[in-house]
Amino acid sequence: MKRLKKIVALTGAGISAESGITTFRDSGGLWEQYDVMEVASIDGWRKNPQLVLRFYNDRRKHLDEVEPNAAHRILAELEKDFDVTVVTQNVDNLHERAGSSRIIHLHGELTKARSSVNPGMIVDIGYRPIEWGEKAADDSQLRPHIVWFGEAVPMIEMAADAVSLADIAIIIGTSLNVYPAAGLVGYAPRDASIYLIDPNDVSYSGHNITVIREKATVGMEKIKQLLYE
Ligand code: APR
Repeated sequence: MKRLKKIVALTGAGISAESGITTFRDSGGLWEQYDVMEVASIDGWRKNPQLVLRFYNDRRKHLDEVEPNAAHRILAELEKDFDVTVVTQNVDNLHERAGSSRIIHLHGELTKARSSVNPGMIVDIGYRPIEWGEKAADDSQLRPHIVWFGEAVPMIEMAADAVSLADIAIIIGTSLNVYPAAGLVGYAPRDASIYLIDPNDVSYSGHNITVIREKATVGMEKIKQLLYE
């Protein structure tokens, strides 16, 4: 039985843009509307937890109103012929809903909540809001299961291991601005084929990367053709 080629997809907000979820750093992006340190950092949580809860309640409600797009779906379909791992910075569940089965969420998941004391005490909450005063099983305030700025990224080692074994790495819709996620590309084997799909110019260092200057749905269609040539 021939070993299936390993594909690792490193995805960011851009892969969900065509589903109607705003990215962070494009014009009109989330960080133009909110101060990231107020709503997406551990200090912000300590200072004004109600504002942080409202921010994620709004995004979680919006997630219930959008669907995966063709880029998510093509990635899921590649599992028929490849050993695919999705390493995503996104907290939406669109990869899951498109059918991907091996997903590493580096920055947490919008549809989960957890104890604000025990990070391992996680519950599924779907698209419902988390209210101030709502407690986890350990009687601490329930908080979004999101990795905020200033917090560790527990899944980074697992993600780096996956990238280090990749035959093919596909970077989709990330500005590669935020570490440690942005550093994952460096773990790819020297002989791996690396593609980057983005309609805009993304600065990255090292590696010979084939850039596909398209939005995710068009770029993934091109990748599919390349992979099945
Ligand atoms: N298709 C593909 N890429 C797109 C599209 C599209 N339709 N639209 C925009 N992009 C690209 C942008 O050009 C940009 O390079 O998606 C990228 C989005 O970059 P960011 O907004 O910085 O999002 P991301 O890289 O995922 O941010 C990383 O930062 O704020 C934190 O935790 C947050 O996970 C997030 C992390």
